[in-house]
Amino acid sequence: MSDIRPVQWTADGLEIIDQTQLPFRFIVERHKEAESVARAIKDMKVRGAPAIGIAAAYGIALEAQQGADRQQLLTACQMMRQTRPTAVNLFAAMDRIEQAVREGKDVLAEAHAVAQEDLEADLRMAELGADLIPLNARALTICNTGALATGGYGTAYGILRKAYETGKLEIVYACETRPRLQGMRLTAWELARNGIPFRVISDGMAGWLMSKRMVDFVIAGADRIAANGDTANKIGTYSLATLAHAHGIPFYIAAPTTTIDSSTPDGNSIPIEERSSTEVTHIDNVQIAPDECPVWNPAFDVTPARLITAIVTEQAVCRPPYRFG
Ligand code: MRU
Repeated sequence: MSDIRPVQWTADGLEIIDQTQLPFRFIVERHKEAESVARAIKDMKVRGAPAIGIAAAYGIALEAQQGADRQQLLTACQMMRQTRPTAVNLFAAMDRIEQAVREGKDVLAEAHAVAQEDLEADLRMAELGADLIPLNARALTICNTGALATGGYGTAYGILRKAYETGKLEIVYACETRPRLQGMRLTAWELARNGIPFRVISDGMAGWLMSKRMVDFVIAGADRIAANGDTANKIGTYSLATLAHAHGIPFYIAAPTTTIDSSTPDGNSIPIEERSSTEVTHIDNVQIAPDECPVWNPAFDVTPARLITAIVTEQAVCRPPYRFG
């Protein structure tokens, strides 16, 4: 099992790996209050839908530990809800923590449960998902869905990892994932660490790779899955799904059931986060675009359910037509 925990509770505060510094620097920051955890989520020091939910839950536990009263805890939950709008795991975690606060339960125990259940869901998902993978398979993935994005194992990445361990996976192609480069900076780092053969490709190469018959399946994570199966995930996922469809290649989504939002009927109702234009115009604080270059930077797109071959959760491998809730 991976020993990476993006978020770790300690007797002396909440440790968060600063993912903006990877792969060159492994920096663990210690947080003592909810506000700094909220900032870490906004700044994507901790990112990935499940890890965001876990960090937010522990952020409230920090406040509880310092003696915050019920109203202060609920206000802190509201602050967490403002950090990133698309990953529904954040809202599921806050619903759960708010309920614990209202019922006078131990907030830290609830946060531990959020983290532990996510890890267990990943391990189960890996078992179920690895069964879908054929022998000698070549996979294509996007963004980072590994230990860094979750309670410590991974969703889509967890399935890849399991498939490799069981001798089925030949290679992973990892899209670099502009603009934040989670594929090149984080997934490549995890793949190397886990000894899984891989190659990073620029995002624009995916179609060419498929046309060369170099990919057997595509697998991605999710930030929010609507009741009809439409799925929001990192920008570029929709392009991969469309290309996979055009080439007759299976396209899988893997996510825990905490990523399913049955109150959202379809993809049109999923809020899509828009981030700063500097994420596109700059790389590591170096400007690569002309001054005042106009930019549109949605962090996610929505893949329609009709393009998704199967959705793997910890409970089942779901096939279309999808009906959640
Ligand atoms: O903007 P990010 O890095 O938080 O986006 C992450 C993704 O899009 C992941 O695919 C998704 O959260 C699933 S992580 C298991």
